[in-house]
Amino acid sequence: MWHFRLWDVQDVAVFLSITLYMCHLAGAISIQSPQRSLTRSVQEDVFFSVDVTCFGIPTIQWTFMSGAVSRTIGTWEPGVYTNITEDYSSRVQSFNNGSMGLSDLRLQDSGYYVVTVTDTAGSSKDAGFVLKVNEVLYEDLQYLSVSALALAFVAALLMLATWLLDKAYRKIVAWRRRKEMPENDATELQPL
Ligand SMILES: *[C@@H]1O[C@H](CO)[C@@H](O)[C@H](O)[C@H]1NC(C)=O
Ligand SMILES: *[C@@H]1O[C@H](CO)[C@@H](O)[C@H](O)[C@H]1NC(C)=O
Repeated sequence: MWHFRLWDVQDVAVFLSITLYMCHLAGAISIQSPQRSLTRSVQEDVFFSVDVTCFGIPTIQWTFMSGAVSRTIGTWEPGVYTNITEDYSSRVQSFNNGSMGLSDLRLQDSGYYVVTVTDTAGSSKDAGFVLKVNEVLYEDLQYLSVSALALAFVAALLMLATWLLDKAYRKIVAWRRRKEMPENDATELQPL
């Protein structure tokens, strides 16, 4: 009987330590994100979608990195405060789950975006995103202006062809009339 009781105590201890371990895991920071690599065009918007979970209220900080440049975009605690850097204040939107929206993209926005999550106990975790901003819009504009030029050229050609055909038609009519009335003065048929 005592033997079995002893085992029971050990089982309880194992169970307790597993439970504690699970609690510890549950308290760990998690950053879920469906997509880590994004490509956009100039003037478009981008949405860095993450879902941050941790014990207590997380502190979310987004940092931009490109080459030697590293700058803080903003820091916020959902429901507590939001501090977006002045350079970004008009373009950045912060979300409670840690996500960040950046609008009106520029070529210089290409680079790495790192989200750092810090929990109330002080431990932190981060996740990185790659954003590529393309110039496609300008190429589109160039393409458009070239097409417009081509269309204008075709229109001009058509007008010229119509004018020439009209002139040729009048000439033929005049020539026929002259043939029918050979005694007529040629100058009379000139106004064409
Ligand atoms: C985070 O929240 C935003 C807005 O509520 C939502 O659109 C987005 O899908 C969320 N992200 C994730 C990964 O759940
Ligand atoms: C907001 O962030 C900037 C730069 O990260 C910092 O200098 C400033 O003190 C912060 N302001 C507040 C109110 O936390």
